[in-house]
Amino acid sequence: EGSVAIPDARFQHDRMLGTFDRGALQRGFQVYKEVCSACHAAHLLSYRNLRDIGLSEAEVAAIAASYQIPDGPNDNGEMFERPGRASDRFRRPFANDAAARAANNGALPPDLSVIAKARPGGGNYIHALLVGYEDPPPAGITVMEGMHYNKYFPGHQIAMAPPLNSDGQVQYGDGTRATVDQMARDVTTFLAWAAEPELETRRAMGIRIILFLIVLGGLTYAVKRKIWADVH
Ligand code: HEM
Repeated sequence: EGSVAIPDARFQHDRMLGTFDRGALQRGFQVYKEVCSACHAAHLLSYRNLRDIGLSEAEVAAIAASYQIPDGPNDNGEMFERPGRASDRFRRPFANDAAARAANNGALPPDLSVIAKARPGGGNYIHALLVGYEDPPPAGITVMEGMHYNKYFPGHQIAMAPPLNSDGQVQYGDGTRATVDQMARDVTTFLAWAAEPELETRRAMGIRIILFLIVLGGLTYAVKRKIWADVH
């Protein structure tokens, strides 16, 4: 059984000079926070990075402070926890990989910081994976104990139960209907940003470089004509 073609989810940030959809980024963070972060870390992100997706300083401070962050040792050599600060990395759901596996039937939920870059197919794969569960599995296929059939996961048996499984699982503040597909698209947009936060700056710089080269090309041509004007 071969791999299945991944459908193109047509994300606006995947277009040639496309930018991230700000609303989708913020909703996607909400999905990551309320659903995915129960199992998946995103340790390359700090709370202050959320300023980039349009959250205010006060919102970031409030989100950070809602987590207890491990710290220490203090002057007595003790480890402790304290409310998060904007400069803290996203809190990990488990103390270490062994604890993460113990809570997930032996499977390790990967860190999601750069997953949108790390998997072939990128965001299209993540979106497809999130909406690609089939229960019951197709006729003739037996799924192992504790595993779930997914059309797009290599090998089709994944340890992650469908994380987005009912419409309205999160309550969006902007009135967007939280269908499973919408939540999958939003969290995928958020993860694409997490993996490549400099995408918009990089593209804006590209446009400026091309414009500069066009002007430079024109100048070079004008100078060439002037220098060679008297040669017949
Ligand atoms: C694997 C995304 C929620 C447990 C994965 C993978 C991705 C992902 C991209 C990697 C698949 C691959 O290797 O190609 C997400 C997203 C979530 C979410 C976006 C939220 C919408 C959860 C939750 C749990 C969980 C809530 C635990 C209850 C796992 C486990 C694996 C996994 C155990 C490893 C699966 C395996 O290797 O068989 N997830 N996940 N995930 N996830 Fe999640």
